[in-house]
Amino acid sequence: MSKTVLSIKQFPCPDAGFAAQMFNRIAPAYDILNHILSLGQDFLWRRKVADGLDKEQKLRVLDLATGTGDLLLSLLRRNPNIVEAVGLDISENMMALCRKKIARHKFSDRVRLVRADAVNNPFMEESFDVVTMSFGIRNTPDPLETLIEIRRLLRPGGIALILEFSMPTNRILKNCHRLYLNSLVPLIGRIISGDVNAYRYLCTSIENFAGTEDFSRLIFNAGFSNVQITSLTFGVACIYRCYKPMSS
Ligand SMILES: C[S@@+](CC[C@H](N)C(=O)[O-])C[C@H]1O[C@@H](n2cnc3c(N)ncnc32)[C@H](O)[C@@H]1O
Repeated sequence: MSKTVLSIKQFPCPDAGFAAQMFNRIAPAYDILNHILSLGQDFLWRRKVADGLDKEQKLRVLDLATGTGDLLLSLLRRNPNIVEAVGLDISENMMALCRKKIARHKFSDRVRLVRADAVNNPFMEESFDVVTMSFGIRNTPDPLETLIEIRRLLRPGGIALILEFSMPTNRILKNCHRLYLNSLVPLIGRIISGDVNAYRYLCTSIENFAGTEDFSRLIFNAGFSNVQITSLTFGVACIYRCYKPMSS
């Protein structure tokens, strides 16, 4: 893990404005497509992230790129010890759906929603015990900069839980997954959301995103002292549990 990785190959997500426009367009179909395209696995993956929190301490939690709020809901349901939860996202339309969902589940008194860029946010340093981000870091223009910002927002000893797509390492599974990403996902994405470009972007960004080793190096380069990786569903997604050192 000594090689320095300054940035990682990414399909163009040129700036936060690009992501905001794309997610504003696909927001109404986002949840249903997520569940269909992951064959319902996304529920289990988010639950696994939510179960990774300390159950004993009172926690202040920030969910970056919160989208329609599914991870935020899972975190709140499974961790009554969360005393402050903030969801942040750049897309107005995704956040509007999130707001409705939070109200429907009667969590509005425990949640604050903030529309902002992940790296250009209003929070003071060391404001949170835990920062989570599911399927968001791949969509930020500079994942290293995002990781450095996450580290800034965490208290010393705090943890970041990052859920992100990955490619299976087994060659046969990888080829099958690639076929699935390049044929079925854009087709189903187009039929349900009407936006083939967004779902082509999704697939290309998954294929081009860093492998687990490179992404782990990036996490160390951002100043985290340790990272644990949990591979999910044959390696099509991973949870990175990143530890901020007690002193820096
Ligand atoms: C694939 S969705 C993930 C949403 C949610 N976390 C989930 O698990 O379903 C990615 C989200 O990241 C948001 N996003 C992309 N770039 C962002 C940025 N620079 N700052 C904040 N949010 C961003 C998008 O608006 C979108 O809601």
